[in-house]
Amino acid sequence: MEKSIEQIKTEALSEIQNAADIEQVRTISVRYIGRKGLVTQYLRDIPKLPAKQRPEAGKKANQAKNAIEAAVEDAIGQLSRQKGPSDAVDVSLPGRPVPGGTIHPVTRITREICSIFERMGFDIAEGPEVETDYYNFEALNIPKNHPARDMQDTFYVSDNIVLRTHTSPIQIRYMDACKPPVRIVAPGKVYRCDSDLTHTPMFHQVEGLLVDEKSSFADLKGLLTLFARQMFDTDTALRFRPSFFPFTEPSAEVDIRCVICKGEGCKVCSQTGWLEVLGCGMVHPAVFENVGYDTEKYKGFAFGMGVERIAMLKYGINDLRMFFESDIRFLRQF
Ligand code: DAH
Repeated sequence: MEKSIEQIKTEALSEIQNAADIEQVRTISVRYIGRKGLVTQYLRDIPKLPAKQRPEAGKKANQAKNAIEAAVEDAIGQLSRQKGPSDAVDVSLPGRPVPGGTIHPVTRITREICSIFERMGFDIAEGPEVETDYYNFEALNIPKNHPARDMQDTFYVSDNIVLRTHTSPIQIRYMDACKPPVRIVAPGKVYRCDSDLTHTPMFHQVEGLLVDEKSSFADLKGLLTLFARQMFDTDTALRFRPSFFPFTEPSAEVDIRCVICKGEGCKVCSQTGWLEVLGCGMVHPAVFENVGYDTEKYKGFAFGMGVERIAMLKYGINDLRMFFESDIRFLRQF
């Protein structure tokens, strides 16, 4: 017991007074009144003193201990009230994970299709989902009572207003507004009154249109071949089958060599080795007349494809309805 208890007390109190933060106060407290602290040690050694001195020493030591305890409490109270804004947030805490979403496969594929054509110089166009009879049918060379209207089970809003059954009306809207040359792709939702394993009342299409003074069916074939090879495989083979659409002449449906069996024949391609992916053709002169384009000067081609169909082939999904059930376990895979 070299130092007097008074001295120890004075030192302790002044250290506490000068402490910069709560952490320091706690350290000081441990050093003096902790289990192995100076004051504690002092109290423990009192029995070793001559009997006469013990009562006085005990009293002083206890006083010192109480004074230090009180000062510690005071200091902690004061320092915690002074906490500045920088102490209010503990920047060293690990962040809470924010559950992130993923991009829906239909959106992904739509973007992928569009960006392939954008890289080849096409612009993106859009149009309304609630469309007039004129844009959805009439201007596309599908007059009233034309049998082609039966191909598309239309949702009628009123006599003259429909939910668009395809993205082709965007062709008309764009040509109404812009002079040739035209090079656009137009993605969007379309609606048909149809629902089973392979059909949903709403699905997505991407429309394509190119008009200029020189454009041929050969250009169309080349363009779509390039597209298919970027979308699927670099060695994807294409097959053009003659078909009919009122707004194109000649028209064709395009198949790609089955991405699953590579043409051997399997369930997905119904043993044919081929999968239909889009419709296309040379723009019908009647369509050009409807938008006031000079049919002598301009030629063009158009195509339209189903986004879900492309997504199913690309990702090997066999049930169309998966796209619309919002099952998080399905969506997380993309
Ligand atoms: N609109 C057609 C459909 O929904 C697809 C289509 C075929 C679009 C030929 C075209 C085209 O632009 O030239 O079935």
